Amino acid sequence: MNQNFSFRAALPGDALRLSFLFAHVYIDTYGVEGVTHEFAHFMEKRFSSARIESLISEVPDALQVATCDGHIAGAAEMIWRSECPHQGIIAPELSKLYVLERFCGLGLGHGLLRRAELLAKTRGARQVWLEVYALNPRAIAFYKRQGYNDIGRNDFQMEVNCYENRVLLKEL
Ligand SMILES: CC(C)(COP(=O)(O)OP(=O)(O)OC[C@H]1O[C@@H](n2cnc3c(N)ncnc32)[C@H](O)[C@@H]1OP(=O)(O)O)[C@@H](O)C(=O)NCCC(=O)NCCS
Repeated sequence: MNQNFSFRAALPGDALRLSFLFAHVYIDTYGVEGVTHEFAHFMEKRFSSARIESLISEVPDALQVATCDGHIAGAAEMIWRSECPHQGIIAPELSKLYVLERFCGLGLGHGLLRRAELLAKTRGARQVWLEVYALNPRAIAFYKRQGYNDIGRNDFQMEVNCYENRVLLKEL
């Protein structure tokens, strides 16, 4: 595999590829019982290429991508001003960090996270927070190794099921 990786801000023309990447990583990560109705509805709404394209146009640095030989292999999405469910914190939220399975363990997650944190710092932020599914031990271990601390729980109600998320915070 060519391992010529680079990182850049997403462009509107990336929206369709990001839409597929998000859905693919989402099913790989959470679809332990297959693709449920609520997951399909969630993905249709959240990962539509129109929604992604308008986000990129409206907030050009909110989405960062990792590419391999020009092809998108991972992405990070930030909400620059977001209310954390704990401690009354308002700070940048890492709302997605998705790397295609075949590219995991090659430093893309690390690179995307560093880039997102640097952008947060240049915006004057002193903290970054995120939510991660409590039954996603690989991601939780990854974030803890990157200096994130668990500050509590926040449940996410989908259509039928409620999922426990952990809230993690890093001091920059
Ligand atoms: C969690 C996730 C984002 C991690 O991404 P990744 O690209 O596999 O992570 P990295 O390769 O940067 O780091 C993982 C390990 O790879 C190794 N690695 C290999 N090459 C590396 C490099 N050049 N730089 C840094 N680490 C490297 C390190 O051992 C690292 O271990 P560490 O965590 O102790 O630093 C990824 O597994 C993923 O997308 N999972 C599915 C979606 C998900 O769960 N997202 C998070 C919840 S929103």
